[in-house]
Amino acid sequence: MTAYKIHEHSYDMVVVGAGGAGLRATFGLAAKGLTTACITKVFPTRSHTVAAQGGISAALANMSDDNWRYHFYDTIKGSDWLGDQDAIEYMCREAIPAVIELEHQGVPFSRTEDGKIYQRPFGGMTTQFGEGPPAQRTCAAADRTGHAMLHTLYQQSLKHDARFFIEYFALDLIMDADGSCRGVLALDMATGELHLFRAHGTVLATGGYGRAYFSCTSAHTCTGDGGGMALRAGLGLQDMEFVQFHPTGIYGAGCLITEGVRGEGGILRNANGERFMERYAPNAKDLASRDVVSRSMTIEIREGRGVGEHKDHIFLDLTHLDPADIHEKLPGIAESSRIFAGVDVTKEPIPVIPTVHYNMGGIPTNYHGEVVQIRNGDPDAVVPGLYAIGEAACVSVHGANRLGSNSLLDLVVFGRAVANRASEQIKPGMTHRALAADALDGALGNLDRVRHASGDTPTAVIRDRMQRTMQADAAVFRTEQSMAEGVEKIREIRNGFADVKVSDRSLVWNSDLIETLELQNLLGQAQVTINSALNRKESRGAHAREDYPDRDDANWHKHTLCKVDDAGNVDIDYRPVHMYTLTDEVEVVPLKKRVY
Ligand code: FUM
Repeated sequence: MTAYKIHEHSYDMVVVGAGGAGLRATFGLAAKGLTTACITKVFPTRSHTVAAQGGISAALANMSDDNWRYHFYDTIKGSDWLGDQDAIEYMCREAIPAVIELEHQGVPFSRTEDGKIYQRPFGGMTTQFGEGPPAQRTCAAADRTGHAMLHTLYQQSLKHDARFFIEYFALDLIMDADGSCRGVLALDMATGELHLFRAHGTVLATGGYGRAYFSCTSAHTCTGDGGGMALRAGLGLQDMEFVQFHPTGIYGAGCLITEGVRGEGGILRNANGERFMERYAPNAKDLASRDVVSRSMTIEIREGRGVGEHKDHIFLDLTHLDPADIHEKLPGIAESSRIFAGVDVTKEPIPVIPTVHYNMGGIPTNYHGEVVQIRNGDPDAVVPGLYAIGEAACVSVHGANRLGSNSLLDLVVFGRAVANRASEQIKPGMTHRALAADALDGALGNLDRVRHASGDTPTAVIRDRMQRTMQADAAVFRTEQSMAEGVEKIREIRNGFADVKVSDRSLVWNSDLIETLELQNLLGQAQVTINSALNRKESRGAHAREDYPDRDDANWHKHTLCKVDDAGNVDIDYRPVHMYTLTDEVEVVPLKKRVY
């Protein structure tokens, strides 16, 4: 193995990732007096949270009747009853103080006439436990809410005494023989030097793995690096079969057009100009939850009512809205539509198609953000020293389908929860136990293998094969045949990684190496996703099987926990869904049919 010089750092906590969740955790930990390092592969304000548009949910009741219990009910229904109800209670109750806290920290929310935070309707958000009119629950800063939040959260992090290591790529977790996490090894991409971050707690806030797919709204940086590291550490990932397709990605470009467009009155139309969602979701119409809308659009296209030369997409029509309203509330999507679709939204509809947007699955945690696994029959056994938050995690508050605007919420609520939990467990300046002599061998061995890979297949070729296979075989609608083929293809593609060719052997700004390490992370998650999907023989939320069209609670009301080893062997187990609440302030929502 190459002998590397390694810089060693000791912190109470290390956070990997500087999106909304990572930053909220970072400054929360620093504020609790814990020495905290945040390592991030991009400059914090370039993290993918910056792209979030429509808003953050909280039952503030500024613009409609509302109650956090309605939000709790909607989130459970949205999750198709796969969400853990204790965690959902925690998130929906904490949403209100979390948004007020953001306001006080300086997020420039849009305002109502009387100066309150502006709130818009979003899919699946209702009142009176689904019986009342739509809720206006999504707090917005025009259609640039993520941008506004990310900048505020970074400012807060700078205000507190956190240390940032920017453009550092996390290579692997450092795990003890007893299964606890002791820190992370990272590469400073600018200098090519290695840094070992020893910490009592390591927080994975690395985002989703949307780039396992060919067309997605996720940034190119969304390569699921935390999930990849967790798999290499032998941990299982939860509910990875549930991949959300956002109904309105720009056709061809994949850029997000916020659900807020439909919240403000935008309408989906087929080739006949028909508002077809009235047929699929008579009550919620265009504001049914995302899985329902994406499936309806796909059916319209399949049945020949798609628009355009190839009849392969749908129109999102805003032309009936007041241009002044569009200018004030939706300026970002007007600009994106002009640039990426050549459309003036005040005069023409936007061409859209369901596009991969969010991973409901991830590293399993409890509602404190502590990573959990099954150990000695205990399905909720905590992995000491390891936490996960944001899209990298599966708390599980989103279950089989996330409601729009619950993601920005999840980031801040569980980012804060981790800070609270860690400060109960870790005292500032606690001594670090010595690491085993071979503690870094796995991480360095993997780096060496990838860095010196001298096969015949360029990284981009393997990535393209993976992305096209996932797009075709783990799609909006799924069948046994397509997924079985997909499982086989992804297995071969992952085996083909042994033949990857890295041309640049240096460590300084080696984008060839970094892209290959990112591909390795994606491949593991692609394999877990498609195997978990083939395994789940029912339809639930975003997992829509044509051969098993119904939800099957008797056999499948459970979380999938899937591992894959270096040889590509897949192991699947199950964790129970938490059908209990934290307090008696809200009642468990029993299983029932999900209709919008
Ligand atoms: O449509 C949107 O603005 C996306 C929001 C979300 O995914 O939460």
